Amino acid sequence: MFTRMTKLQDSPSVGIDAIAVHVPRLFVDLTAEWARARAPELGEASVEQLVGKVKRGVGVVEMAIPDGHEDSATLAAMAAVKVIEQAGIDPSEIGSIAVGTETTVDQSKSIAAYVLGMLERRFGVDLRCAGAPQFQFACIGATYALESAVNMFRAGENTKPYALVIATDVSRYPLRSAGEYTQGAGAVAMLVCKDPRLCALDARVAGTITRDERDFFRPNGMSTAVVDGKYSIDVYLDCMAEAAELYAARAATSLGVAGQRLDAYIDHFLFHVPFPRMAEYAALRVLGDAWRRDPGMCGELAGAIPEVADPKLDSDRGARKAFEKALAQHPMFRRFFDARVEPSLGLSRRIGNIYSGSMYLGLASLLENAPSRAALAGSRVGFFSYGSGASARVFSGVLVDPERAYVPHVARELAREGQGGRRVPLELDTYERLHAGPPKESDAPSSLAQPIPSVRPAASEFALRRVGTESSAARTDVGYRYYEWVG
Ligand code: CAA
Repeated sequence: MFTRMTKLQDSPSVGIDAIAVHVPRLFVDLTAEWARARAPELGEASVEQLVGKVKRGVGVVEMAIPDGHEDSATLAAMAAVKVIEQAGIDPSEIGSIAVGTETTVDQSKSIAAYVLGMLERRFGVDLRCAGAPQFQFACIGATYALESAVNMFRAGENTKPYALVIATDVSRYPLRSAGEYTQGAGAVAMLVCKDPRLCALDARVAGTITRDERDFFRPNGMSTAVVDGKYSIDVYLDCMAEAAELYAARAATSLGVAGQRLDAYIDHFLFHVPFPRMAEYAALRVLGDAWRRDPGMCGELAGAIPEVADPKLDSDRGARKAFEKALAQHPMFRRFFDARVEPSLGLSRRIGNIYSGSMYLGLASLLENAPSRAALAGSRVGFFSYGSGASARVFSGVLVDPERAYVPHVARELAREGQGGRRVPLELDTYERLHAGPPKESDAPSSLAQPIPSVRPAASEFALRRVGTESSAARTDVGYRYYEWVG
């Protein structure tokens, strides 16, 4: 059913060799105690109404919450350890470590440098010759980190066979806000190299759009994001549609697919997933645009959706929303969505928004959900990346040997403790205590506070042990974060 690779690349094959995910073990079940407490607080008519909205309207059922010893740096380092171990590589063969994050742990020091230190101590290797930058642009930072690593290999500037790219974040919104049920936490680590085993990225196809926007941001000193929810969805969709058009124009020549619709040469669509329903809105926009501009498809849809030929669709937001609402019900769209988007959403439904890693979590989800990973070999994956503020970047790659390159691990770990997994459900008051973070003492920034007690003591993982307090002529470490492997 799927189109195979349409044209062999003439530049060196570079891409993702392996991918691994790390998620905190603590989580909130959004269909139980949380929903009972929040339904009246959020003005919902009933608990069932809120559960329906969260499960079907937004698309999540659980969200991952970091414990007292976890932060974006420990999550990143854990994902890095997993990808190194699963790929079976020697960590001293890593020549650069780049982290994409929008929830950094320090205003100056790169999380990648903290990760480098954790990996050196864990594996007993010397990584001092590796570059270790941090890329920040809301949820798209890791995509820019990946682009930089890939270009380094394409230019032949790599000094070692592998680069490590990590997306890591803790998504936090105010309690009792509409953002609360779109929180989450986790990291995705990817090894980049020549002749990758997992996904060879297409060259000269990426379409990027950037606009100076106010849809979502987090001013210095704030621990939760400022977001204009409905507007953020509009900005996401507008940027994504434009980036997809640019991608298609470049793919026409670079992939030799001129005159073909996007869905003729992309088999699986991975969108940035702040919440799973957003992927449906994005698919409706991107596919809706592609389908209505194809005369044959337009004719097929016109019977059920007369709006498909409405000339106002490009200029009138209301008309476009009406068209997309109708398209969402059409069996052709439902079949497309179920086969080519839904398999990438399973993990997000149980983890929530992990910001910069959420699209890459979609790749892991696709690999874990596929009835046969081997059958995915040769299929083209489209990456539809987005970061608020705002930038969208669309690119693609061809899966090489997913059966051997990917070790399924996430779905198994998401099972509850005692049922084969490591997950622990949180009671509401414990979740709210973790959300509040360290108690506020005087006017000191919260980043100087000691970690709050863990719900579950760290075990077989990196942990934030303490935050430095010394300031003397002999030694100064105020605010430095001490991470340790806890066996
Ligand atoms: N059963 C089924 N569906 C229901 C329902 C029920 N009982 N009750 C409501 N719904 C449906 C609604 O009809 C709606 O669906 P449609 O769009 O099809 O109409 C859907 O649930 C959502 O409901 P609301 O429109 O009332 O929206 P909300 O008040 O729950 O807010 C939100 C949703 C704006 C996404 C909010 O959660 C939010 O602000 N989240 C944070 C911002 C965000 O994630 N923005 C995304 C774009 S920005 C980005 O992508 C970057 C990033 O990572 C943050």
